[in-house]
Amino acid sequence: MSPPKKHSSASSKTTAPRIAIAIMAAGKGTRLKSKHPKVLHEVGGKPLLAHVIDAATKVVPAKDVYAIVGHEADHVRNAVAHTGINFVLQQPQRGTGHALMVAREALAPYEHVIVLSGDAPLITSRTIEALRDFHLSKKAAMTLLAAELENPTGYGRVLRKGASDDVKDIVEEKSANPSQRKIREINSGLYAFSVKALFDNIDTLTTNNPHQEFYLTDMAGVLTKAKQEVVAVKTENPAEILGSNTRAEMAELDMHVRMEKCRQLMAEGVTIFYPQTCVIDSDVEIGADTVIEPFAQILGKTRIGSDCRIRSYSIISNSEIGNGVVVRPASVLDGARVAGLAVIGPYSHLRPGSEIGEGAHVGNFVETKKIKMGKGSKANHLTYLGDTEIGEGVNVGAGTITCNYDGVNKYKTVIEDGAFIGSDATLVAPVRVGKGAYVGAASCITDDVPPDSLAIGRAKQVVKEGWANTKRQERAAAKSK
Ligand code: UD1
Ligand code: CA
Repeated sequence: MSPPKKHSSASSKTTAPRIAIAIMAAGKGTRLKSKHPKVLHEVGGKPLLAHVIDAATKVVPAKDVYAIVGHEADHVRNAVAHTGINFVLQQPQRGTGHALMVAREALAPYEHVIVLSGDAPLITSRTIEALRDFHLSKKAAMTLLAAELENPTGYGRVLRKGASDDVKDIVEEKSANPSQRKIREINSGLYAFSVKALFDNIDTLTTNNPHQEFYLTDMAGVLTKAKQEVVAVKTENPAEILGSNTRAEMAELDMHVRMEKCRQLMAEGVTIFYPQTCVIDSDVEIGADTVIEPFAQILGKTRIGSDCRIRSYSIISNSEIGNGVVVRPASVLDGARVAGLAVIGPYSHLRPGSEIGEGAHVGNFVETKKIKMGKGSKANHLTYLGDTEIGEGVNVGAGTITCNYDGVNKYKTVIEDGAFIGSDATLVAPVRVGKGAYVGAASCITDDVPPDSLAIGRAKQVVKEGWANTKRQERAAAKSK
């Protein structure tokens, strides 16, 4: 049952039309030769479908967005469930026209539906809005977003009625004759439909084509024949509608997304040397006056403050970095938090749960996991710190190892403020080194060290005077026998 029509009067404004967005995302992506569904392949470090959802939810609320899923449906659904959109199951997948057929019930409450393609991730909300506004102003049954491409190969071509906005039909590349293939105006695969016109006529679609699928593109011809208005609007940004059917196309889109990301960051005051060499994901945030050196990778939800320097070959994922931090070359940070003015690397490995305090230093070949390191503390060389709480102003000598694992369980090490751990110490957890205490170099510490004490856990040095000389003489005598 449809709600009663509201008649506009001079005093009341006409209500805004009810608009849904449907995203076709059920296809397998045969041309990718992948076991993963196409729409979960990533560009800019994010699934194709997630990019499209981002754009869609800027135009209508998530509750009015419907992803049509089918191939690996659960997998696709789980990957984007957090966005709060709806899902419609298309099983089996019998073409883009069929994708809309299965959404009939979900879309019934709406007056218009904007159809997006889950494999065209560069689309922006501005272009979707331009498509919507053109569609509404023309009062069309179907509006397709067209684009003029230098190389239209692989796309459906738009057959216009002369030079007007009106469209006769769309012809797919495989079915096009040689003169139609010369048309450079292509169908982007993005449309706006009047819901009523779409579903009053969609059952007319046939599978009479090389793929034996229901083509949504055929709705142009179907609606024209039914004397309904079908129009095309040419996008000003053809780059936005590029699809990703192959790995090569995917690489191009990825390059495009990342270069745009670099441009955005540079516009916000970040210096990026050789941006072509940097891999920066879409959701990364970086503060002004931070410098990113060549071949840095900054991934996932990483946030970096201002005035930092991220040196070459570092790979930083899902980490939070304060202001004025230096990450020296070839450091790997994963799920780490680094407070302001800290210095990391070169060759540090900060694993998940590493929290490095203000002004602290983590140096070469130091690995950390699930640790808290206090303000100004240092572990500069060749060290493993796992499941450890380190206070402020602690010095961890070269080669220190926390023995946190007995093969079954993990145990905690605590090093209190101002403690000094001599080089090559092994701290066998659970163990606590008290405030201001000293641990002698090369000690194996198995018991707690009280505050302000010195612990030495190693064999006492023995010196045997003249031993080497005696040994040499014995050897020489044995030889001359
Ligand atoms: C489609 C258009 C073509 C257009 C091009 C733009 C058709 C028949 N052709 O071709 O005119 O130029 O997009 O990129 O529509 N999908 C489903 N269910 C299905 C089949 C596909 O949800 O049963 C989804 C896919 O996951 C994909 C989208 O629809 O996200 C487009 O399908 P795809 O097979 O990539 O169409 P193209 O061959 O690119
Ligand atoms: Ca496609």
